[in-house]
Order: sequence, then C-alpha cells, then structure tokens
Amino acid sequence: MSTVIRNGTIVTADLTYKADVRIEDGRISEIGPNLKGDEELDATGCYVMPGGIDPHTHLEMPFMGTYSSDDFESGTRAALAGGTTMVVDFALPSPGQGLLDALSMWHNKSTRANCDYSYHMAVTWWGEQVFDEMATVVREHGINTFKHFMAYKGALMVNDDEMFASFQRLRELGAIPLVHAENGDIVADLQQKLLAEGNTGPEAHAYSRPPEVEGEATNRAIMIADMAGVPLYVVHVSCEEAHEAIRRARAAGKRVWGEPLIQHLVLDESEYFDKDWDHAARRVMSPPFRNKRHQDSLWAGLMSGSLSVVATDHCAFTTEQKRYGVGDFTKIPNGTGGLEDRMPLLWTHGVNTGRLTMNEFVAVTSTNIAKILNMYPRKGAIMVGSDADIVVWDPQKEKTISAATQQSAIDYNVFEGHHVKGLPRFTLTRGQVAIHDGEVRTQEGHGQFVAREPNMPVTAALSTWKELTAPRKVERSGIPASGV
Ligand code: URP
Ligand code: ZN
Ligand code: ZN
Ligand code: ZN
Repeated sequence: MSTVIRNGTIVTADLTYKADVRIEDGRISEIGPNLKGDEELDATGCYVMPGGIDPHTHLEMPFMGTYSSDDFESGTRAALAGGTTMVVDFALPSPGQGLLDALSMWHNKSTRANCDYSYHMAVTWWGEQVFDEMATVVREHGINTFKHFMAYKGALMVNDDEMFASFQRLRELGAIPLVHAENGDIVADLQQKLLAEGNTGPEAHAYSRPPEVEGEATNRAIMIADMAGVPLYVVHVSCEEAHEAIRRARAAGKRVWGEPLIQHLVLDESEYFDKDWDHAARRVMSPPFRNKRHQDSLWAGLMSGSLSVVATDHCAFTTEQKRYGVGDFTKIPNGTGGLEDRMPLLWTHGVNTGRLTMNEFVAVTSTNIAKILNMYPRKGAIMVGSDADIVVWDPQKEKTISAATQQSAIDYNVFEGHHVKGLPRFTLTRGQVAIHDGEVRTQEGHGQFVAREPNMPVTAALSTWKELTAPRKVERSGIPASGV
C-alpha cells in the first residue's frame, strides 16, 4: 500500500520545489515528478511541509492541585488538526519521586496518543537517586533533555547549587538542560506583597512576574550552564530582557537556544486588565503576556535567528479549574492551550505579514526542533527515509478560531475570534491521513514514543555521587590553594 501526495510544492527549511512524495510503510520512499500510488492526495495549490513538532506540552500533568485537562488523546488530536505531528511532553516527578517511576507513569498516560511523542525529564528535586537515574534515563530510555524550574518555589523549584550539580551531571551524559527561567524567590515575595495589599485578582499574576525576574534568571542559567560546560535551552522566552541575555550569549559563542511561544507572539498584557475575572484567569500563565515592546523583540529574534523555535507550552485548564484561584491569584492553575493554533497563527502573523519566509516557518516549527532534540532527519524533514509526518498546507484556507470547533477538551480558547489564513488540507502521521480536508480521522494509540540519543560529547567515565559532592579545593589563578 502506497500513498502519493501529488501536484504540491515541497517546502523544507532550506528548499522550495515542485515534486510528488510517495509514502510506504510510514516513511517517505520517493520524491520526484509524476509519481503514482494506491492512494493519492491532491496537493494542488498547497505546500508540502514537514509536520510541526511542538517541543513543549503538558498533557494530563498534575499541577497546582489539579491535572491539565487535555490528555495525550485530545492533545495530539488537537495537534494533528493544526498540522503538528509530534509533541514533546514533560515527564514530571513529584519532589522525592524517582525519575524512572515518573517515566513509567508518563508511558502509561501516552498509550492513547494519536501521533508520535517524546519526553523531556523534569528535575524537580536533587539527590543521589536523581543523579544515578539520570544515567539510566539517558542511556536506556532515550531521553536526553532535562528541564529545571527556577520558579514555583516550594513546589517544583530547584536552587542554584542543585541546578549546577545537575548541569554537570548532564554534561557527562551528553544531555541538554532546559530551564524555566524566572526568579522564583522574587516571584514568591512579590506574590505575598500583592496579596497583602489586597490585590487578589488575575491581573496581579502579571505584576508578580515582571520581565526583570525572567531576565535575571535567564542570565543566571546561562552563566551556570557555561560554568558546567553544557549547552542550554531556555523555554517560553517572553521578554526582551531574556532574549537579550540569549542574544548576547550566542554572540559570545555559547550554545544557547531560546523558545518563544505562539501565545506571547500574538497575545499581549491587555488580556489581563479591565477584563472580567474568567477572561483574565483563563490567560494566566507563566511567564505572563507582555506588552508590544516585548512582542516586537520576540519577532525580531525569530527573524534574525537569535530565537530558534516556536512552541505552545500547551497546558490547558477549564474555566472551572481556573476558578480555584477566586480570591487568591496564586492558586489559579498556570497554563494556556495552543496546540491546534500554533501553526496557523504563526503562518498568519509570520509568513502572511512577510516577517518569516516559508522556509523559516518550517525551521522554527519543525526542523530546528528536530535538530536540537536530536531526531533529525527522522523527524523535521521531507527526505527519502524520513518518517512521513507531513502537513499539506493550504495557504488560501481561512477560519476564525473558536472553542466551538476546537479539538481541545477545554471550554474556551485564548485565541477566540482570531482570524487565520493558512491551514492544513491533510495532516499525515507516519503515513496515515489523520486530517483529511477538515475531517478528523485520527487513530487512538497510533502514536509511538521517539527515543533520542545524546547529541553532545559524552565523557568516557561517569563520576560517582561521592565525587560530585566532595568538597573541592578552589584553585584561583595567582592565589595558592592553601585550603583556607
Ligand atoms: O504557566 C505555565 N507555563 N504552565 C505550564 C508549566 C510551565 O511552567 O511550563
Ligand atoms: Zn515553565
Ligand atoms: Zn511548560
Ligand atoms: Zn491574530
């Protein structure tokens, strides 16, 4: 059984050309003119692109006293409807829980996924068990990226010494640290002050997380990564202060990647002010939406290449869940959705406006992600041998985003009323047509876990926990290490 995508224009991160694509056994088997197949998909007037990869989702995640409401079934269905064919979710151990234990929980959640997926591992506490299991996670379970929360004090946050130790361990393993960069101590302090002054509404969430807390933490993480000798991936970059730190690091030759979200590129802080409680609370996420100065900075970063990828941080809560925070904004579950809308919105606001070329669009939604996370060219490419994760993109197709027609399980959409032009005609996941001209044909359980090897140099001999934690003499140049 073969499928052929006919009469389309292939758009990859570096080429645009007319050709047909033949798919067999879930992979691309031939690219060329006038191909024939058992099943034919007409791509006349369309662009044939690598399916989107969302490097940052939280499906069915326990968080702030509840679980995010899209699970691997509804989340990946939403993804496919919007042209995204793979998600990378976060396996999140609760503090004290082992990494391998958390990983098996995530493998159980993902059995219903409609498209392929992988995981980052979160480091939510630090100790000998985490140190030991990191090696197993990387070497036997195909996970080479580890997220550290510098915020959510008292819950998920790790301190600088823990982060430094973790980063050194990741260096030995050839793995890459990710950071949620906000100064959690200062956020906690500002939250208490705001509450004490009687500021309990959702707008106070924005005041408690100003750009400075993000800029400071981003700088600090970059320096800690540099001292540990590891690259760094900064998730949900929302402001100029954080972007500036990343730009400077990259210009100095440091391997640092920044990931803005489609929410921060399209929505701004006016969503929190002079709005009803539900409207604002539904948009509470960390970092919060910013003003136009920051949005312009993020767009400039994508255009110039100082920011590398676009994600969603899809973490969707219903209005009822958001209302846990009535009377205390710090209890509003943090997170917004976007899986179905990332690609159409970025196309509309990026390609249709001339800010991004089509090839740049493919790079930041798919190819760059596959390269950084070390799954290229199996993913993120239109090449013979690549997985047939493909979106056939109709640049003329339009819609107005609405919760009434979305796949997500929640009761609203933060992009409600936004008009998009550029939508999938077909979305294929490993050769199976999941979205067929507006019709959803997803298959629960079709998705497979994608294991990823380390792509950084791996040290031959690993240290032991004792060696990592042993007091060391500090050798400063010019000052004899006397042990004092
Ligand atoms: O508000 C957010 N971003 N919620 C999801 C968890 C995280 O911080 O990534
Ligand atoms: Zn985060
Ligand atoms: Zn997140
Ligand atoms: Zn819009």
